Amino acid sequence: MKQPLPIAEDMSKLKTLLHDSLSPHLTADAGKDMRILNLACGRCDEAETLIQVGSELTKGGDVEMIGADIRIREIRQARENHAHLPAKFLIEDATKIDQHQELGDDFNMVFLRHQNFWHGQELWKKIFDQGIAKLRPDGMLVITSYFDVEHRLALRALEALGMEVISNTRNKASRELSDAPGKSVDRWVAVLKRRGT
Ligand SMILES: C[S@@+](CC[C@H](N)C(=O)[O-])C[C@H]1O[C@@H](n2cnc3c(N)ncnc32)[C@H](O)[C@@H]1O
Repeated sequence: MKQPLPIAEDMSKLKTLLHDSLSPHLTADAGKDMRILNLACGRCDEAETLIQVGSELTKGGDVEMIGADIRIREIRQARENHAHLPAKFLIEDATKIDQHQELGDDFNMVFLRHQNFWHGQELWKKIFDQGIAKLRPDGMLVITSYFDVEHRLALRALEALGMEVISNTRNKASRELSDAPGKSVDRWVAVLKRRGT
């Protein structure tokens, strides 16, 4: 699918950021393949980007992505837009993703783009907790944020859940949202691992 120009540019920046943030932290036994769980993915504009990054990081290994969101319309759109990708999109409440046992708990990456911590801290703590439980022991959790305060609060909540920030980057080229001063697309990208791993 050809993306509108601003989205294509956002994706190109996100791809570089993810690649540069993740590659120094891949462990030797991370495995040849990559499973990615994208929670609260919406229509998942970043599906192809994530799969490309996974493929680069595994040097051509198999990459699989599962996207999940509670909104039916967005998930239907994601399924339509990304039918050509090795990706599945589930209509799921991410606070209860543990009930979906067949998903497994061996994801190399759990990804949350534009997490919404500011608008429901208790809800998002549950989503974070559920995401962490789906990671391999050496897996990485990645969040991106629209604005500074929300990003800081989300990182603090993740640290309280036993995670450690291993990379935190302000995307200087991020696209400003014209109707929301101080907010921009993938303004921050952070990578976290379980503390002590
Ligand atoms: C700020 S939007 C980000 C969407 C997408 N990741 C993006 O970057 O465009 C937050 C998303 O969280 C989803 N969400 C909120 N509560 C959820 C829940 N309990 N389970 C799954 N998704 C949820 C919303 O439906 C929405 O798509």
